[in-house]
Amino acid sequence: MTTPRPTVAVRLAYGRHVLRQAIGVLAARLTPAPPTAATETLRANGMFNAAMPPSLAHERSALERFDLYLNEVMNSPRLRGQIVFEYGILLRAIDRWRGLRVLDVGTGRSTFPGWMSREGAVVTTLDLPEPAERRLGGFQVRVNDVVGRRPGPTRPVAGSMRCLPFRDDRFDLVTSLSVVEHLDTDLPDVSFVPYDEQQRRLGHVLNEMIRVAAPGGRIYITSECCDFDRATTDAWKQAYYYRGGPPLSGAWPVRDVPRLFYEFFAARGCTLVGGVQFDAAHIAREDYWTWRGGYFGGFSVLAQKR
Ligand SMILES: C[S@@+](CC[C@H](N)C(=O)[O-])C[C@H]1O[C@@H](n2cnc3c(N)ncnc32)[C@H](O)[C@@H]1O
Repeated sequence: MTTPRPTVAVRLAYGRHVLRQAIGVLAARLTPAPPTAATETLRANGMFNAAMPPSLAHERSALERFDLYLNEVMNSPRLRGQIVFEYGILLRAIDRWRGLRVLDVGTGRSTFPGWMSREGAVVTTLDLPEPAERRLGGFQVRVNDVVGRRPGPTRPVAGSMRCLPFRDDRFDLVTSLSVVEHLDTDLPDVSFVPYDEQQRRLGHVLNEMIRVAAPGGRIYITSECCDFDRATTDAWKQAYYYRGGPPLSGAWPVRDVPRLFYEFFAARGCTLVGGVQFDAAHIAREDYWTWRGGYFGGFSVLAQKR
């Protein structure tokens, strides 16, 4: 079946959207960067809260002026600051990018690796041989070529996070942003993976990240959690990768997050940088909900290998 060509109205709306993004980037560059919220302590091992993005204004400003993609995810009202939290907490944690050997796992269409590289990091990206998400293209790329900053070079590697094709102790920083919740899907056949098997695969993935991190190196992960007993809808549902599974997924059961992530890293001798603030009970509060809907939350993990 062939995909119908977009109508003129759809194409015009898309063109306007891209031009608004371009104006957003230019406007961000003309706006002085706000100072770092120096009094804020790093709360890397915790749940997203609506009060966090304003305290990450400095980090957001560094990213939103880079290109169309980062400007969009930093400012989209739909995302309600969740990506500001995800990227901003990492920026807060890293004092110096220059020379840092970074592996970004599950890059998809994100241009954040290009940002890290431009800051001086030596960046390798990893995604499946057939990534689940298409890279940006067309008019948006042409406009970005004019307006966006040149990304630094990155080395793309095809492979699976379940068996990282790198030697031990190789990276100073391993990042994985909004990826591991997709372990609910077997790719490329897009079948649903039962929860027991998801947990087993997650353990492999985290062990792999620890293995390729250098001693003293850090691992930064963001993912999604949910109180599935109380959630009824998910605004992100059409983006699930699997076909024919349960009505709600794409997140870790909120009560399992400490065991699956924080206790897992601690049990493998890693330090949780800044301690653990994650509290599953917070999911009852609306200010902890993400744009996906009631009882959906986001969280980050920052561990250091000893
Ligand atoms: C939501 S997207 C990427 C988000 C991106 N990291 C960001 O910051 O916006 C998830 C990506 O993970 C990739 N992915 C899923 N399973 C993977 C696996 N087993 N190994 C490597 N990449 C995987 C998908 O192909 C997709 O590109």
